[in-house]
Amino acid sequence: MSTPTLLAERVTGLVAPSPFGAVLGHVADDAVHLTGGSPAPESLPRDEFAHRTVEVLADLDSAARALDYSGHQGDPALRRWIGAREGVDASRVVITNGALHGLSMTLLAAVDPGDLVFVENPVYPLAVKTLQLTGARVDAVPVDEDGLDVDALDRALRSGARPRALYVVPDFQNPTGSVLAPDRRLRLVELAERYGFLVISDNPYSELRGSGEDIPDLDPASDRIVHVNTFSKTLGPGLRLGWTVAPEWLVAGLLDLRARHDQHASSLLQAVVTRLVTRDDLFERTVAAASVLYNERAVALVDGLRAELGDGVDVALPAGGVFAWPRFTDPNLDVEALASAAAAEGVVFLPGGQFSVVGDSSAARRHARVSFGQTSSDQLRTAASRIARAYRRVIG
Ligand SMILES: Cc1ncc(COP(=O)(O)O)c(C=O)c1O
Repeated sequence: MSTPTLLAERVTGLVAPSPFGAVLGHVADDAVHLTGGSPAPESLPRDEFAHRTVEVLADLDSAARALDYSGHQGDPALRRWIGAREGVDASRVVITNGALHGLSMTLLAAVDPGDLVFVENPVYPLAVKTLQLTGARVDAVPVDEDGLDVDALDRALRSGARPRALYVVPDFQNPTGSVLAPDRRLRLVELAERYGFLVISDNPYSELRGSGEDIPDLDPASDRIVHVNTFSKTLGPGLRLGWTVAPEWLVAGLLDLRARHDQHASSLLQAVVTRLVTRDDLFERTVAAASVLYNERAVALVDGLRAELGDGVDVALPAGGVFAWPRFTDPNLDVEALASAAAAEGVVFLPGGQFSVVGDSSAARRHARVSFGQTSSDQLRTAASRIARAYRRVIG
């Protein structure tokens, strides 16, 4: 007889929103994996990281601070650097253990059980997982090539929907790679203010623009806007270091939660990263070089898919980030079956339906999410030809 567990309902009630990394069947031994959202290891400033770590620890005073407890809100110098980039006072910046942590704390601080929260469709599924902690009702607003469909949101609001919060990824959205158009950003802020809901902008890929002009994030001067961000895509997700820019009214709530969770992010990591980012223009050079690398890879992938699949695929070159979102034009093609066949041919990607966990999934199911950040251009061309082989097998 098995021993009954003592798990709380808070945990037993959690469900996986999508079979992320679903069993694909046989995966070829030499498979190219195009599933993750991590940065290319060669783009990360390893040497600089090593030097700054030694520097922090070599000096007794700085080592003592770096190995001691520190404030809930985070290193003041790091908050000042972030505040200057975000265009807000450092008092509104909270250092977190990554974007998901910032999202989770923001939702816990601002959303009550039963509240309605809007997410994107398709959506980054871990955001929906995080939302489950709140007991909120979740509904979706569609995403098109210009990002969140603000007209559809407007219609829902006019029809009486009263969300407490809305989750959006403005730049190089996960999974579609789309960028929220400037006029939609303005309208989204207006709607948030008119109807009184919180917009949580999760923007981890914003520094990784491969082409075109930067577009400012949702205006943080509005007290309805939160920015959640992270060093995961620029300095490495293993750091678990990110930040949240909160309106003044929310900061104390976030810190109250923090005081009941982990107290603060690692003092040592914050000290190292502060030295790293505030030195010369190291951060700018790092993200600029990474953006060029990812753009080359995006071109190799997209050109490869177009050359191999011709009219069978409709794929835009993403202007940044690490994801492409090809649509297979044959309405009868089963993209899950294609993903299984591709795994056997030696390339693993995620079927688009896995990102459509709230709302109608019929459009997303014709897409795939293909990551290119960690794979060389040569390997991406190989991957494209393997996808084409699988495609021919599946359509027979
Ligand atoms: C949209 C989005 N938000 C958040 C995260 C997670 O960021 P972090 O590792 O800083 O928690 C990711 C990572 O894939 C992401 O794509």
